[in-house]
Amino acid sequence: MDKIIIEGGKPLKGEVRISGSKNATLPVLAATLLTDETCILSNVPKLLDTNTMVKLLKSLGKDVDWDKDKLIIMSNGKPNPVADYKLVSTMRGSICVLGPLLAKLGSAKVSLPGGCVIGVRPVDLHIKGVEALGAKVEVDAGYIIAKTKRLKGNRVYLGGASGPSVLGTANIMMAATLAEGETIIECAACEPEVEELANFLNEMGARIRGQGSPRIIIQGVKKLHGADYRMQADRIEAGTFVLLAGMSRSDITIRDFDYHQLTALDDVLAKVGVQVTQEKNCVRVKAPKVLKPVSVTTYPYPGFPTDIQAQYMAMMSLTNGVSVVRDTVFPDRFMHIAELNRMGAHIRREGGSAIIEGVKELCGAPVVASDLRASAALVMAGLVARGRTEIRRVYHLDRGYENIDKKLMALGASIKREKE
Ligand code: UD1
Repeated sequence: MDKIIIEGGKPLKGEVRISGSKNATLPVLAATLLTDETCILSNVPKLLDTNTMVKLLKSLGKDVDWDKDKLIIMSNGKPNPVADYKLVSTMRGSICVLGPLLAKLGSAKVSLPGGCVIGVRPVDLHIKGVEALGAKVEVDAGYIIAKTKRLKGNRVYLGGASGPSVLGTANIMMAATLAEGETIIECAACEPEVEELANFLNEMGARIRGQGSPRIIIQGVKKLHGADYRMQADRIEAGTFVLLAGMSRSDITIRDFDYHQLTALDDVLAKVGVQVTQEKNCVRVKAPKVLKPVSVTTYPYPGFPTDIQAQYMAMMSLTNGVSVVRDTVFPDRFMHIAELNRMGAHIRREGGSAIIEGVKELCGAPVVASDLRASAALVMAGLVARGRTEIRRVYHLDRGYENIDKKLMALGASIKREKE
């Protein structure tokens, strides 16, 4: 296992290019199960999670080859409806093979993904959705087992206790592409990654409209064909670099992504005092000497993303006052508090909120990465802290940030990777 060692306080400067979106790529890869024809995806990020999805596709009857940033996905003629526990348990995103397998093969047996450190993570909405399309579903021995002759379109409400579900919407939308008749998903997730998936499915011959809004309408078709598609940039990676630039008061240009997908963050940063200027395909960040404390609450898109809550908290730990960060999407996503406190932050948790008293500086310390976005927050803290930070279990970081250490090194950071 690797660890990352950072000598903090080095000035950062230069340009960074944002990679393809992990959260858009995973369901799009799952969608290739809906056709026997070849699909080619470009701008695919090389990450642990994309590699896990590639392994899963191979186990389900696809040949998959990398060619630089492209993935070429072909059928090997031996479709398999069983998504095994070993692969699904390492990555929750694997749940989105349920809809495509069921729609294409008429049966699917997908391991329950289980919980993770950011919360319990139920799958009731995924099951409710495929049942609404007429599938018979049972949960047995840790697997979701679903069967159907042919799915039938229906109206389905996909709002849960914490709002819409991103992968739940993705799963049902994929299943409905090959169902008989019309499906209407109400309270659909509006995330750009859901929109991207719908656009890819339409390239494959699906008939979907309303993507990006809470009502998605899908007219089922008999067959989907192959498609050649370029993945959009990763808005969460982009948001992480914007926050890093603001927190470290660095002159960084962040390029090749759509800043409109970060409107909620932009709104908050303006109050913090951080100016973000847009130029064509990139943004430049200018931060004041003193950051103002600003409270945020995470919501589904277009609200403030839960996936940059930890990174924002790292920034808030260096303001001149008190702020509150509340996560309504994953109210238990606070593992990073203890580690940030080890680095001198003053943060306490009260239920689904974190109360952050800003401090003047952070100091380097040995810390442990607990999950993907928490790892990014620790890297950010390490880069601005006084002294040396050692982050263990960085495989979490490698799940979602392509070449993060190389990108940071190119900006002037003192960061290296060692075997533990
Ligand atoms: C996706 C993202 C993840 C992001 C999250 C919320 C991927 C691979 N992952 O995860 O990075 O943090 O969206 O933006 O795209 N819920 C239920 N029942 C369900 C499903 C979910 O109650 O059947 C709840 C969850 O516990 C959570 C909320 O709904 O409280 C949102 O979760 P969801 O949108 O489903 O997250 P994912 O799609 O798994």
